[in-house]
Amino acid sequence: MIPADPGFGVYVHWPFCAAKCPYCDFNSHVRHQPVDQPRFARAFAAEMASMRVRTGPRTVTSIFLGGGTPSLMQPATVAAVIDAIASTWTVPAGIEVTLEANPSSVEAERFRGYRAAGVNRVSLGVQALNDADLKFLGRLHNVDEALKAIGFAREIFPRLSFDLIYARPRQTLDAWQAELEQAIGYAADHLSLYQLTIEEGTPFHALHAAGRFAVPDGDLAADLYQLTQEVTARHGLPAYEISNHARPGAESRHNLTYWRYGEYAGVGPGAHGRFVEGSRRVVTFTERLPETWLNLVEAKGHGVVGGETLTRSEEADEFLLMGLRLAEGIDLVRYEALAGRPLPANRIAMLREEGLVMPVGNSRLRATASGMIVLDAVVADLARPERP
Ligand SMILES: C[S@@+](CC[C@H](N)C(=O)[O-])C[C@H]1O[C@@H](n2cnc3c(N)ncnc32)[C@H](O)[C@@H]1O
Ligand code: SF4
Repeated sequence: MIPADPGFGVYVHWPFCAAKCPYCDFNSHVRHQPVDQPRFARAFAAEMASMRVRTGPRTVTSIFLGGGTPSLMQPATVAAVIDAIASTWTVPAGIEVTLEANPSSVEAERFRGYRAAGVNRVSLGVQALNDADLKFLGRLHNVDEALKAIGFAREIFPRLSFDLIYARPRQTLDAWQAELEQAIGYAADHLSLYQLTIEEGTPFHALHAAGRFAVPDGDLAADLYQLTQEVTARHGLPAYEISNHARPGAESRHNLTYWRYGEYAGVGPGAHGRFVEGSRRVVTFTERLPETWLNLVEAKGHGVVGGETLTRSEEADEFLLMGLRLAEGIDLVRYEALAGRPLPANRIAMLREEGLVMPVGNSRLRATASGMIVLDAVVADLARPERP
């Protein structure tokens, strides 16, 4: 059942990592001095209080502590953050509370502390199940440590997901299938499987541009994607989103809120939020540099440095972009209400003929597996205004 209300999540960004991975362009920073965690915890609470003025009273449907590497937080810091959320908004018992963890920064003791603080789901950055590729990806852990972390997490948390990055240099279909099947053997009920993306400004971008390595592209990348869909579906973990797979019912509530175009408050350095303020949906983003963010919050109560109120047509475009990532697709009636016009029937028909989209029941539209591979083009085609 798809709920009528896609929810209100709270995202908290922990912006520090033990080392910077060469492919990563997330807001993550390495510090050689210890981070003053109680000071950050106070600043998170202060920024929440100022967000609360803008969101009004809300019932939180999920919490996500992402990063960076949130498993570098002390359990007391995590407890302070979760308590602050509960004093700012209404937090019903039992909602999903996820923390992202790196296998290298995991000890069972800390995991127990997170569980006691209220975390009930962990998302582990495993990335690969062979040591050579972990080294290539610049990860600090090896396969043994990853498996140990999975073991701890399964013992301590009711829910566990882990991430793998595929479409690595020289990765063949057979090698990926074997690794994926091995991963499914360790998985609980959720996996995030991302194709390696060469992001501008990262060390991998420079090395890739200099021809130091190549990544599968074109047909091989598409075949790797299709294989991923087949293998996961066969093992009962079908894709519910382009890169996310779960046993039915075990989907990430928090991420579903993003993709179903729900609302979320984004707290911490470089966090984004999207929520209804008054009667319109606003976007917020905060200062990315942790120390500058901290100073801003301490000086004026929040680190929000930008944002805007979305127009109806921007909302409709975002709704399309997010919703078509999902296997459940989008509600065409909701699109029409946002855009003030239906999606053009002639373009839907054309994309259907090309095998890129398909209807789900009477009032929903989804991208097919082939459509997911070229999703940006599908969305651009559907969102393009009609020529007069
Ligand atoms: C930003 S990380 C945060 C979690 C944690 N620090 C970690 O690395 O495991 C979230 C996930 O994004 C994925 N990711 C980051 N950069 C990527 C890239 N360039 N290509 C593919 N996946 C990427 C990784 O799988 C990672 O687990
Ligand atoms: S540990 Fe995660 S967030 Fe940190 S640099 Fe690596 S991929 Fe990025």
